[in-house]
Amino acid sequence: MRGEGNGALARAEVETSADAVCARLPGFYKLSVPERLDLLARMYRWGPDELGAVRANGSLSAESANQMIENALGTFNLPLGVGLNLSVNGRDYLVPMVIEEPSVVAAVSFAAKIVRESGGFAAEADPGLMIGQVQVARYGDPVRAAKAIAAHEEQILALANSFHPAMQRRGGGACQIEVRTLPPPEGPGAEPILVVHLLVDTREAMGANLINTMAEGIAPLIEQITKGRVYLRILSNLADRRLARASCRIPVEALADFNMPGMEIAEGICQASRFALADPYRAATHNKGVMNGIDAVAIATGQDWRAIEAGAHAYACSGGQYRPLSRWLLDDGHLVGSIELPLALGTVGGAIKAHPGVQFAFKLLRVSSAREMAMVFASVGLAQNLAALRALGSVGIQKGHMALHARCVAVTAGARGLHVKKVADLLVKAGSVKVDKAREILAALCFEDAQEVGDPA
Ligand code: MEV
Repeated sequence: MRGEGNGALARAEVETSADAVCARLPGFYKLSVPERLDLLARMYRWGPDELGAVRANGSLSAESANQMIENALGTFNLPLGVGLNLSVNGRDYLVPMVIEEPSVVAAVSFAAKIVRESGGFAAEADPGLMIGQVQVARYGDPVRAAKAIAAHEEQILALANSFHPAMQRRGGGACQIEVRTLPPPEGPGAEPILVVHLLVDTREAMGANLINTMAEGIAPLIEQITKGRVYLRILSNLADRRLARASCRIPVEALADFNMPGMEIAEGICQASRFALADPYRAATHNKGVMNGIDAVAIATGQDWRAIEAGAHAYACSGGQYRPLSRWLLDDGHLVGSIELPLALGTVGGAIKAHPGVQFAFKLLRVSSAREMAMVFASVGLAQNLAALRALGSVGIQKGHMALHARCVAVTAGARGLHVKKVADLLVKAGSVKVDKAREILAALCFEDAQEVGDPA
């Protein structure tokens, strides 16, 4: 039961692993919040200072918020949970997830457990190559202008790098120019759009500020070379040179559930994949599920999740039709899943240093590079997708969702502590998960409690 005392803590055994940190924590969900933190602190060997920071839940002060944005009024909290069981390339990860939607953390943990027992996720990620765009107009002959830009590539790159020499010292920096001539949106006769792409390896940074500085910095030189006029100078969120991929291979028997054989569940998942491939209406929802997992870990780790969202959906369209980011198929008695998407992530910059909660999330996640983090994100997205399709292709999601949704309804109706679970269970039993019904049940429970207290027997 939730909120049980130390007895439950003793029962939440950490499976042995060569690494001190193990993502398989049976019984974790049964612990109270302080017990969960204690267990993690012991496993991670956090000292009293770290544990104090963790217990304070790493929240952002109003003063820091005021430094971060304009017209700050305070801060705004969301639940922080931990996704369990994730194994990527043979390493265990406990995944910090910030999300208000019930069942996402449980879904990732559940699917990650199935995959873990089948060898875990295999993942890889490209180096941190980002694109800065410089739009040129009134350049005269497009072929001449494009050739002139290409001929000055070295000079342009040197100028770009002069704005951030430290990035080159770290092995990154501006490394390539591409020139694109796009058909005019008004139709033939209008000036084609000339765009210079500046490719920059931003290493451990997401890189938005760096790219924008470089794009603005090279603009006068581009104008000089083309004799044209530069308008936009900004990074592209379609970070398609910075892709991450994850895959898994599960023996179909491992999927057996809901009194159904594994093959039937696997077929449901493959049908869901086919549907999303054929239909953008379904693909949008399919990808929303993928992003449920990715956004949650992105928010926890202080990433620019709007940029990640924009990149993911633009990439989903890159073949000319909006498609799912993941695929599932049957191969020799196995369900095989794969995902590929752009992930422009950073382990430095942004809110990472400024936000104590983000610092805590990094401590929990233990990634040593933005590329490693992208592999974890992609695996989380695939795990979330597997959990959703497994339910959708068989019994439907409402059954599983209802129990968690009922807890929220119980809280909305005013239930607290032990009453939350009691009210939620009774709502599900009654088959009516509504706030009015929850209030009615809560009132009855409170009445019973009062009777017990008043009853001398
Ligand atoms: C709900 O937040 C996400 C799902 O709709 C995803 C999907 O349909 O694949 C369950």
